[in-house]
Amino acid sequence: MPLHIVIGAQWGDEGKGRVVDYLSAGADFVARYNGGDNAGHTVTVGSKIFKLHLVPSGIVHPHTIGILGNGMVVNPRTLLDEMSSLRGAGVSIAPQRLHISPAAHLITAAHRAVDKALESARGKGQIGTTGRGIGPAYTDKATRRGLRMADLLASDFRDRLRAHLLESNRTLGMLSAPELEVDAEIEAFINQTSRLALYIHDVATELNLALQQGQTVLAEGAQGTLLDIDHGTYPFVTSSSTVAPAALTGLGLGQTVAREARVMGVTKAFQTRVGSGPFPTELSGEMAERLRGTGANPWDEFGTTTGRPRRVGWLDGVLLRYAVRVNGMTDLIITKLDILSGMEKLKLCTGYTVNNALVHDLPGGADGLSACAPVYEELPGWTEEISHVRKWKDLPKNARAYLERVSALAETPIKLVSLGPEREQILAL
Ligand code: GDP
Ligand code: IMO
Ligand code: MG
Repeated sequence: MPLHIVIGAQWGDEGKGRVVDYLSAGADFVARYNGGDNAGHTVTVGSKIFKLHLVPSGIVHPHTIGILGNGMVVNPRTLLDEMSSLRGAGVSIAPQRLHISPAAHLITAAHRAVDKALESARGKGQIGTTGRGIGPAYTDKATRRGLRMADLLASDFRDRLRAHLLESNRTLGMLSAPELEVDAEIEAFINQTSRLALYIHDVATELNLALQQGQTVLAEGAQGTLLDIDHGTYPFVTSSSTVAPAALTGLGLGQTVAREARVMGVTKAFQTRVGSGPFPTELSGEMAERLRGTGANPWDEFGTTTGRPRRVGWLDGVLLRYAVRVNGMTDLIITKLDILSGMEKLKLCTGYTVNNALVHDLPGGADGLSACAPVYEELPGWTEEISHVRKWKDLPKNARAYLERVSALAETPIKLVSLGPEREQILAL
């Protein structure tokens, strides 16, 4: 029963899309289980760069079936746009190979408007959300007034959409934000989204059956461990469960299929974050600019969804070990090692000082992070360009030593090392 779960081990944008594309060569199903179009997953195939927000990254391989699970919040408009741009790039998108859970929740224009209005109201305490309506959609889910994919088929959908828009307008009014034009929004939403009905499918039954028959399901996490609603740096988190166990509830799989699952945690060779919140190893100045890049390369550290510059820093071994624990990680996948080439010295955070005491694990989960000052170990860098390397032994000695130290700190073996965004720029160990 091969279930493989790919999760982000940091604050998102670790290169999950790139890794899922690579692993999809051996998968039958590729399934998103959390989040929505706040995600931006990049897949590079030759001269084509795909930026996926809702459709699973494995879809680029023609043999796969893409699944949008019940744990997701789906903006039907961005989904339709994404489907048509994928078709434009030559990817087949049809009801036979893209299946959406009837229990996935819908994101409307009202959720987006409320997300933005809530952010403005937070003033200096802004989370720095992507503005995609993620928080308000999960709020409606939790308060049991959400609209779901299956509702698109219901005879009273128009009435329920109206009730949702009127309620959202009351919220927008309280936040002194412009209200939505209810009738126009209802017509536009229904006209645009009714086409998606063909894609609704009982994906939980489909995936359970597939696993029983020995097919391979690759679950694609969105965001990252430190953005998890429970285990992340609350309140500077997203509104869903991003960690590996959420793949089960977010796809309708039972605990037994997890017994033999591989949980692959993707981490960059350094650390990044977009949005507010604590970041103990954050760098500024010249070193930060060096790691971030100028934006000239497609992989430079600017958000895939929002274009915002990402905050950058040294790899944090304490947070990585925490991610290993909360996900039950079995394998580590390192991306962007190529970016470290040419740096004379590298630093790895191996512990923190908190109130003058040295700690090697997170005191009280991710909550206490803002009080932590990093303790570094320094390692020598390497000068060679490595993006062409395909064998472990061909990596510079210092690059191997760096990876070995990261693996030791994480107490987890490394399975893949990515040395560039292209499919073949990867080392399998
Ligand atoms: P995701 O959200 O985790 O899928 O990551 P993003 O796609 O938002 O950001 C990762 C960026 O790094 C994308 O532009 C990828 O094409 C790029 N990328 C992934 N792996 C590597 C790598 O090993 N080296 C380089 N230079 N770029 C990479
Ligand atoms: P992928 O899947 C990086 C961040 C936002 C903000 C916080 C809450 O591409 O790794 P939200 O819109 O979810 O309410 O924003 O979470 N965030 C991400 N950061 N990568 C992502 O997705 C993210 N999705 C949300 O920047 O700090
Ligand atoms: Mg991303």
